[in-house]
Amino acid sequence: MTKPFILDLVKRMSLREKAAQLTQLTPLYFGLDDDVDVTGPLGEKKLNAEDIKHIGSVLGVYDAAKFMKLQRKHLQENPYGIPLLNMCDVTHGLRTIFPIPLAMACSWDMEAVRQSAVVAARESAYMGIHITYSPMGDVVRDPRWGRVMESPGEDTHLGSRFVEQMIAGYQGDDPRQPERVGVCFKHLAGYGAAEGGRDYNTVDLSRGVLREYHLPIYYAAVCAGAVMAMTSFNTIERVPATVNRWLLRDVLRGEWGFDGVVVSDFNAVDEVIAHGVAADGREAAAKSVAAGLDIEMMSTHYLNELDKLVAANQADEARIDESVIRVLELKDNLGLFDNPYKDCDPIKSEEVNLCPTHRQAAREVARKSIVLLKNDDGVLPLSKRGTIGLVGPFAESTKVLGGWWALGQEEEWVSLNEGLRKAAPRLEILAAMTGELARTRNGGDVADEVAYALYKLHPCDTVLVAVGEHPEDTGEACSKTSLQLSSNQRKLIQALSEAGKKIITIIFSGRPLELAEVHARSHAVVQAWFLGNESGNALADVLFGDYNPSGRLAMSFPRSVGQIPVYYNRLNTGRPQKSEADHDFVSCYLDSANAPLYPFGYGLSYARFEYSGLKLADEQSLTVAVQVENISDVDGIETVQWYIRDIAASVSRPVKELKHFEQVSLSAGEKKTLHMKLTNEMLAFYPETGSEKAFEQGLFEIMAGSHSESLTSITIFLK
Ligand code: BGC
Repeated sequence: MTKPFILDLVKRMSLREKAAQLTQLTPLYFGLDDDVDVTGPLGEKKLNAEDIKHIGSVLGVYDAAKFMKLQRKHLQENPYGIPLLNMCDVTHGLRTIFPIPLAMACSWDMEAVRQSAVVAARESAYMGIHITYSPMGDVVRDPRWGRVMESPGEDTHLGSRFVEQMIAGYQGDDPRQPERVGVCFKHLAGYGAAEGGRDYNTVDLSRGVLREYHLPIYYAAVCAGAVMAMTSFNTIERVPATVNRWLLRDVLRGEWGFDGVVVSDFNAVDEVIAHGVAADGREAAAKSVAAGLDIEMMSTHYLNELDKLVAANQADEARIDESVIRVLELKDNLGLFDNPYKDCDPIKSEEVNLCPTHRQAAREVARKSIVLLKNDDGVLPLSKRGTIGLVGPFAESTKVLGGWWALGQEEEWVSLNEGLRKAAPRLEILAAMTGELARTRNGGDVADEVAYALYKLHPCDTVLVAVGEHPEDTGEACSKTSLQLSSNQRKLIQALSEAGKKIITIIFSGRPLELAEVHARSHAVVQAWFLGNESGNALADVLFGDYNPSGRLAMSFPRSVGQIPVYYNRLNTGRPQKSEADHDFVSCYLDSANAPLYPFGYGLSYARFEYSGLKLADEQSLTVAVQVENISDVDGIETVQWYIRDIAASVSRPVKELKHFEQVSLSAGEKKTLHMKLTNEMLAFYPETGSEKAFEQGLFEIMAGSHSESLTSITIFLK
C-alpha cells in the first residue's frame, strides 16, 4: 500500500516535475561548484534552473560535506521538500579498496565477499551515499572485454552466490539501518556477452542461453532484496534492454516480482536512437516509459518529452506516476523523508575511511583472492632469508587499482616491494627494472635495461617478476584484441629464463591474460589481479607462506585469444574430441588444444588434496558424499567443487555445471567427508520453450573435485 503522503505528493506534482523526479544527473548540473557555470551544460540538455529543483537523484557525490551542502540547498529549493538520492559506483570499496570483484570471486569465500561489502557500505553511508551501483552480475566468457574485472566470472552458480553476499553486506537486513546502503544490481541483461568482447557491442543470446546462464544471477539479486536494477547498454533479441518490455515487464516485474526502481545505464535512453529503435528523443522516452523504465540516467528525454507524449496520448500518465511512486517510496524506505542526510557525516566519514580494521579486512580478502597457478619443485613459499631478485613494472608500483577504484588513493597502497620488505626484513631483495608502468605497454627498446637487470641480479638464483597489464587498460571501454604481456615484459622474462634463473612470475591484471609462454618459462606463476590497498602485504602473506593460497579461478584462462570463448560449462557438440591427439573430423583446433591453459575452479595450495569414495550416501534424501584428504604435511584450505551433468534430456545440457561448493580447512594428514544433497533446483533446466524450469528423469553424472578438470564421478539414475 502506497503511503498517503506519497500519493498526495504525486497528485500535486506537474508532469514536468514528475519527469525531473525520474531524471538523474551528475553534480555538475546542481550549481554546487562555484567555478562551474551551469548554464552551458543545462542548455545542452534543454534544462532550466527550475528543473534542477525537482531532479530526483544525483550521480556520484563522493564527498560528505559536499553532499550535505547539496541536500540542504535542494531541500530549500524543492517546494515539496523531496530529498535527493545520491547514487555512486562503489564497486570494490570506497576509500579502503578491496580486490576487483573478479578477484574476490576467486576467493570462493562468500563470507569474505560479504565483509568487503560491509566495509564499503560503512564508508559509503557516512559519505552520504544512498545507493551503490554494485554488484555487477554479468556472466563473462570473453576476457577481451575490459569489464570482466567487475564481474564474478563465468559461472552462474558462483556468480549468484557472489551477488547475494555482496547485497547482504551492503544492505544488511534493511538498507535504512545505519551504515548500510541500498543496492542497484546491474546490468540487466547479458551485457557480458558483447560480441568480440568489444564494449557496448551487440549481444545475441538465444532465450535458452539467456535463461540458463545469464538471468539467474540477476534473479538471485532480486531474491536477495536489491532495491534497484540497472538496465544494460546492449540489445536483447534485437531490442535494447532499456526499452525491452519483455525483459523489464514480463521477466523482471512479472516473473520475478521485482518492485524496486529500474534505472537506465548512463545515457542509455538516448542511445536507443543509435541502436535504431527510436527516431528521436521523444520516441526513445515513449518506448522507455512504456517498457517500465523508472529513472533516466544522464540524458533528459523524459524531462523534455513526457509532457508532450502524454498530451499527444502517446504515453500514459498513470504509468509515469507508477515510476514516480516507486522513486518516492525508495526515498521513504531509506528513511530520507525523516532524515534526508541519513548517515552523512564528514567527521565520522574521516574516522572510518581506511581505518586499521578496514585495512585488515582488505588484507584478508586480498590474500584469499590470489590464485597460485603453478608451483614447480616447491619453489614457493619463499624463505625469509637469503637473497632474491625483484624485477618488473609492478615490483614497486602502487598503481594496482584496476578499474572503478572510487576514492582509492595511490599513495595509500602497499606495493609488492614494501610488502616483502615488511614481512621479511632479513631477506636481501635486489631490485632492478622496476616501477615503470609504461613497460606494460608495447614500445621502446628495453635491451639495455634488461642487460643491466641481469647484471644486477647476478647473485640471485630466484627472481620475482612482477608483470601484467596497465591498470588503466582494464574496466569500462577497455576492450583488447591481444591479451599477451607487452613485448617488453616478455623480453625480460625470456632473458631471465635464458640466464637460468628460477622465475616466480606475479601477474597483475583485471582479466585472464594469455600466459602460455609465461607458464613455460616460470617455475611459479601467481595471479595477483588488482588486489586493493593491501596488495603488497597480501602478496607477501602468500609468497612467504604465512597464508596458504586458497584462491580458485572464477574464469578460465585461454591459451590464446583464438580460443575465446573458452568456458567450462559448454555443450558437448555432436563430434566431441576424445583426446588431444584426436583431430579426425571432430570439434577441435589444428593448432591448439581445446582446453584452456588454466580451467575454471583451478588453483593450487601449498598443501595437496586427494578425493576418494564418491558415492550416493543416502538414497532417500539423495545425498552424495566424497572424502577429501590433505595428503601433505602443511595445513590448507580446499574448495570442494560439485558438478552435475544431465546425460540425456530434451535439450542438450552442459558437460558439467557447478552446483555447489564448500571450503574446508584440513590439517596436514586430515581427512573429512563432505556432502551434497541433490535438489530439484540443481537438476532442473529450462526446456525448449517456456519460462518454468523442469526436471526430466534419467541418468546424471555427479562429480566432485578440486576444479572443473580434476573430478571424480559417479553416474546415477534419478526419477
Ligand atoms: C556504467 C555503469 C555505471 C554508470 C554510472 C556506466 O558507464 O556502464 O556500470 O554504473 O556508468 O557511473
